[in-house]
Parts: sequence; C-alpha cells; structure tokens
Amino acid sequence: MDLGLRGRACLVTGASRGIGGETARLLCAEGASVLLVARNEERLAAAAEEASKAGAEVGGRAETLALDVTAEDAGERMLGAAEKSFGALDVLVNNAGTAQWRDLDDVPDEDWRAQYELNVMAPLRAMRTAIPPMAARGWGRVVNVCSTAGKRPSAAMPEYSVAKAAELSLSRLFADRHAGDGVLVNAICPGPVESEMWMEPGGLLDQSHRMSGAESREEALATAGSKRPIGRLAQAEEIAAAIVFLCSERASYVSGAAWSVDGGTVQVII
Ligand SMILES: NC(=O)c1ccc[n+]([C@@H]2O[C@H](COP(=O)([O-])OP(=O)(O)OC[C@H]3O[C@@H](n4cnc5c(N)ncnc54)[C@H](OP(=O)(O)O)[C@@H]3O)[C@@H](O)[C@H]2O)c1
Repeated sequence: MDLGLRGRACLVTGASRGIGGETARLLCAEGASVLLVARNEERLAAAAEEASKAGAEVGGRAETLALDVTAEDAGERMLGAAEKSFGALDVLVNNAGTAQWRDLDDVPDEDWRAQYELNVMAPLRAMRTAIPPMAARGWGRVVNVCSTAGKRPSAAMPEYSVAKAAELSLSRLFADRHAGDGVLVNAICPGPVESEMWMEPGGLLDQSHRMSGAESREEALATAGSKRPIGRLAQAEEIAAAIVFLCSERASYVSGAAWSVDGGTVQVII
C-alpha cells in the first residue's frame, strides 16, 4: 500500500528517541521530509542521521530543531523552522512526553502543572499555529500521542493520567473543528513501550521494580508484560507504525479517533 507520504513536510516532537524517533525514521522511509524536535541536540542529531539513512533511497530528508516544546513560542518556532526547511507543513505529530511512577499523595503541585504544560498546552500551541495554514490549503494530518492512562487512569501515574485524559479531549475538540477543512486530527493511545522511558536506568521499569517489590528488573518487566492480553510490552516501532498510518493519505476517513495500540490492555469496545 502506498501511504502517499512522499515529499510531505512533517514535524515530530520528542523525536530524539523512542516512539518519536521511530516515527521520524518510518516517515523518512516513506519519502517524507521530517523536522525532528526535542531538547537534547546530540541525541537529535543521531536520530536525524538514522532517519536520513532510512529515507536515502526514496528522497526522505531529516532536519532538527532543539527546543523545549513547553516554551510559549515553541509553536511558532517549530512551524517557522519546518517551513524554512521544507515549505508548507503537512503533518504534525505531538509526541514529546515524560512520565514517572509514584503515589497520588506524593505528587507536588508543580508536577501536576508540568504535565499539563507538556501534554496539553504544548500540543495546543502547536496545533493552534500549525493547523490554520493546513486548513487554508485543504489538507493536513495531526497525531497526538496520548496513552492508555488517558483512557483509564493509572494509579501509579496520577498527574500523567489526568494530563493525557485532557490531551484526548483537546485532540477531539480540534478534530471536530477542522475535519471539514481536510485537516484530520487523531490520537494514539499506546500501552507500555520498551522505549528509553521504560528501559533507561532510573526509568519506569526501575521505578516499577522498586514500587512493586519484584525481585529483579527482569521479573518487573515480565510482570508488566503479563498484565497485557498480548503478554509483553510494545516495541517503539509498533506504535510508530500506527502513527505513520494516521499521518498518511490512506487515513482519509479517520478523524477524532483515539486508537489504542496497547496489546489489548484497556478492555473497552469504543
Ligand atoms: N513508553 C511508554 O510506555 C508510553 C506509553 C504510553 C504513552 N507514551 C507516550 O509516548 C510519547 C513518547 O514516549 P517515549 O516512550 O518515546 O518516551 P522517551 O523514550 O522518554 O522519549 C521522549 C522524547 O520526548 C522528548 N521530550 C521530553 N520532554 C520534552 C520537552 N519538554 N520538549 C521537547 N522534547 C521533549 C525527549 O527528548 P529530550 O529529553 O532531549 O527533550 C525524547 O525525544 C510520550 O508522549 C509518552 O507519554 C509512552
């Protein structure tokens, strides 16, 4: 199936590693031009090199922009950089995120606010800036990377769960506003993924290991996997594949969706 992404100008936040890095790589492999955004320049450069390699034979291109997406002017700066590199922006993927495990009683106010800034205000500002020119041209795709925790709160990730639920609501509002303009806005809800967010030292795996009382990291990973009908965590590429489809020409009748890519974790029909 031709996804129709060749030559499309795309912007992916949180693209220096994990789900965002894989999304940038797969978009490039489809021949798209991708602006990778994150804070750490060194990691961004490495991810852009991987993406460029994947796109080498089909005209895929990768550029980088180092910034914090929670900055008030991040939306304008990202759009400006994308337009400068590739021309009018066709695709926006709001993916940047962080998470940690802890109890509801232990979350300070500033962390509730920080998750809201990262998962609601940053995507809001990015969409407010990027969507009007897409709407004027009659074509656009936006994917907001949310979480199963937004569909049903995770007791171990309180402020993250609430912010992701708000991001799902935000995504639906923009979808309804712009579907008639040819700009299709959707959300993806991953379950746990073996990205650096889980696997890096001190990441969610180590945190869950400490909180669950498991004997080892391996046992904590197996326990986390066993809670999913599929029986394991996802690989970042498995989430990225669904994101890339929603970015594509082929997703032409999908708007306002919140697709679970969670190994069957959240057992609801809608
Ligand atoms: N992994 C999971 O189990 C899982 C499950 C459900 C949903 N998700 C969601 O999927 C998305 C990606 O997660 P991941 O697993 O790929 O995480 P990851 O491996 O930790 O990567 C996160 C990315 O976001 C960037 N980032 C974080 N804060 C940023 C900021 N303020 N400004 C700009 N960039 C920022 C990071 O780069 P810098 O640090 O260099 O900025 C990095 O590129 C997140 O929204 C996450 O909530 C993940």
